[in-house]
Amino acid sequence: MGQREQWGSRFGFIMAAVGSAVGLGNIWRFPYMAADNGGGIFFLCYLFALLTAGIPIMILEFGIGHKYRGGAPLTFARINRKWEWLGWWQILVCFFIAVYYVVVIAWAISFTGFSITQAWGDAPKDFFFGNYLQLTGGPFELGGINTQILLPLALAWVIAFISIYTGVKSGIERVAKVLIPILFFMVVIIAIRGVTLPGAAAGLNFLFEPDFSRLTDFKVWTAAYGQIFFDLSIAFAIMITYSSYLPKNSDVVGNAFTTCLTNCSFSLLAGMAVFSILGHMALTQGVPVSEVAGAGVGLAFITFPAAISTLGSAAPIFGVLFFLALTFAGITSLISINEAAISAIMDKFDLGRKKATVLYTGTAAVCSLLFATGAGLYILDIVDHFVNNFGIVFGGLLEVLLIGWMFNLKSIKDHVNPISDFKIGNWWIFSIKIVTPLVAGYTGIMTLIADLQ
Ligand code: PHE
Repeated sequence: MGQREQWGSRFGFIMAAVGSAVGLGNIWRFPYMAADNGGGIFFLCYLFALLTAGIPIMILEFGIGHKYRGGAPLTFARINRKWEWLGWWQILVCFFIAVYYVVVIAWAISFTGFSITQAWGDAPKDFFFGNYLQLTGGPFELGGINTQILLPLALAWVIAFISIYTGVKSGIERVAKVLIPILFFMVVIIAIRGVTLPGAAAGLNFLFEPDFSRLTDFKVWTAAYGQIFFDLSIAFAIMITYSSYLPKNSDVVGNAFTTCLTNCSFSLLAGMAVFSILGHMALTQGVPVSEVAGAGVGLAFITFPAAISTLGSAAPIFGVLFFLALTFAGITSLISINEAAISAIMDKFDLGRKKATVLYTGTAAVCSLLFATGAGLYILDIVDHFVNNFGIVFGGLLEVLLIGWMFNLKSIKDHVNPISDFKIGNWWIFSIKIVTPLVAGYTGIMTLIADLQ
């Protein structure tokens, strides 16, 4: 096998890693998770999860990817031959995410176009479910493939395909270096407009004011930990894969901190943008923010379009900005989810990048058609729930348990410390060995119990 590919620069790597982390999860999922889970208290739990699981696991994944230089299965196999399957498990989870994630990107592409004329009119809910998704009665009633989704879906796949096909440095890195700065810029503009609108304060209060009575609610904690895993793309094989392309002397710990903090600041920014505009809408309609905020999946595609329509003549601009931001954020994440699998296939079967990319994205693209049917949203809900509550938490839990307890963690600390500016200490070992397994295990089990009831 030839030499492993490498990133062209540190900035390029950070953009790609941030590109993976910043995704639909930050703009679409974070606000509705916060809304459903006690607003500010969710945010506090989320920050706690970031410190106790997010950052430590990111350092772990960057560390092992860099040290063992393989996609996730190969990296786990090099740590211990018996653990290769854990890498494949994470890749499987990636596959399930990719096939629905891409469809949400397709929606965002369509809505970028719809924003120009505000095609949703006065009834965004009927528009989204009826005119656009053409929802059938349930998950088993597929209906036909929705031709309105087909074109944007193809576009999303083509962009992801080309980026991966052309390689780590000339494809993935280059795309991230262009899209991510533009993305930040767009969201800053939306946030500035948002916070200067009348009613914004009520929206922001809703996002930040902690309802302390929910501090003991395990659902809030599960949601916060689940969000951290999903949000940072950890326990998905991705960050291991990306860091395996780092040059020998790389500031692994610094990169992990930068990636996590950039991602979470972005979530905060996106949350502020979304909630200030929702606050404005609530004021316009004379209802409390809580009434417009808790819309689950529909937040981005039903509530937000309605909110955009309250912006008057600026509505088309902010609509396009918002949905384009969603598209850019999604595309760079989609690239990473696929790259994790493709890299593993290349390692395992000694295939070239081009062949592996054609095979894998071709298969995934065909499977994603299932979500472009009239039953797509129902199936998406089920898969999202399964993947997020079990796939990730258990994938992550096993990872920290195996590496934390069956392996010499100190060797990873000793690997990253000499090359990093910021040194990790025993707090890191404590987080990986004790805190993360306890919290992830507890929340995983509680969710399982709640599901069984
Ligand atoms: N982190 C991405 C987001 O926030 C989602 C993602 C999940 C990306 C899994 C890759 C893998 O949207």
